[in-house]
Amino acid sequence: MLIALGVSGGIAAYKACEIVRGLDKAGAGVQVLLTESAEQFVTPLTLQTLSRRKVLQRTFDLDAEKTIQHIELTRQIDALVVAPATANMLAKFARGIADDLLSTFYVSVAAPVVVAPAMNTRMWLHPATQQNLAALQARGVAVVPPEDGWLAEGETGVGRMAEPEVIVEAALRAARRSSELHGRKIVISAGPTREAVDPVRFLSNRSSGKMGFALAAACARRGAQVVLVSGPVGLPTPYGVRRFDVETSREMRERLLAVREGADAVFMAAAVSDYLPRASASKIKRSGGALELALDEGPDILRELGESRCERLLVGFAAETDDLLRNASDKLKRKNLDWIVANDVSRPDVGIEAEDNAVTLLGRNGERIDVPKASKGEIADRILDHVFGAAEVVADV
Ligand SMILES: Cc1cc2nc3c(=O)[nH]c(=O)nc-3n(C[C@H](O)[C@H](O)[C@H](O)COP(=O)(O)O)c2cc1C
Repeated sequence: MLIALGVSGGIAAYKACEIVRGLDKAGAGVQVLLTESAEQFVTPLTLQTLSRRKVLQRTFDLDAEKTIQHIELTRQIDALVVAPATANMLAKFARGIADDLLSTFYVSVAAPVVVAPAMNTRMWLHPATQQNLAALQARGVAVVPPEDGWLAEGETGVGRMAEPEVIVEAALRAARRSSELHGRKIVISAGPTREAVDPVRFLSNRSSGKMGFALAAACARRGAQVVLVSGPVGLPTPYGVRRFDVETSREMRERLLAVREGADAVFMAAAVSDYLPRASASKIKRSGGALELALDEGPDILRELGESRCERLLVGFAAETDDLLRNASDKLKRKNLDWIVANDVSRPDVGIEAEDNAVTLLGRNGERIDVPKASKGEIADRILDHVFGAAEVVADV
């Protein structure tokens, strides 16, 4: 196991030595990347001696054996941990700025990323820092939050970096995760469907696809071979994910049945139209009165998947406005699922279209797990932790 440890320029940089020792003791190799500011706080020689590897400091290093060393390294690591993570580095990561070795490395990494911020309380509470952090969490970056306590500048408050042992644990968990789903094929559906009313109009729903895309990204980070079948959404394809775009529920059904072969797990996160209009071949004209649309029942893809089970895990989603848990539990049984992810779409702050979600996972053996409000990236990781049975490994990162 090889872990990249990014050290940026805060007082807590000296604690990076303890982190290197902790990871080394646990049997992990450590490749340190040190920013120019961090060199003011801790010497490369100390970190090099402890890690027994040349510390990487510059993007343009004529002494390096490989000219594009940051890309070479991304192929080898199981996780990137940044401790301490400065306000500056969090901002660069959030915006994708790549103007030094560590920030360039971050945008090249596909493995899980953990950040342990450390800074003055006012820097920590600044909306800019909090927004950057939220953006990173939405992307699936794990945050080891700073603690409340005595800060180097003689103040007390939140901002002190978490203890090295906690960061070592988080790093090891993240690294183990990176290969957890290696060799597994996972199929995920996401987004809405569109059903034609006439050549220019359609019936659809407000699903943004963010939850399904976050799941696809999280599965890819854990090493799975991911196939994503997406309805019309404006989201970029997560790294390492094979994507098929579809428009209608019939296309969604056909594509899912075609790609399902050999899958270990299917997550049906798409919001598929239950009813399809009888489409008019020509544009419907205004007639001066009410217009009635006749709707036929569309394909029930989840039921079909449940009736012809071939994957080890079949996970459905229930977006409900009333009687959330009872409706979700009925759906779990009716559709022969292993798990159902229930979310309350009557809440404006979570669920459909929102950046965050809060869900309850119900299992076929009576399990009930409440996952409190968090970014969809974090929710995706929690769902995977539970449905793949590794909840105890990642419970508190
Ligand atoms: C003595 C001193 C201590 C600092 N401590 C922190 C800190 O704990 N956290 C932080 O975000 N920035 C801290 N800074 C500011 C950063 O060093 C500065 O923003 C720098 O540009 C960060 O560079 P880097 O992110 O490339 O390492 C400190 C600066 C000084 C002079």
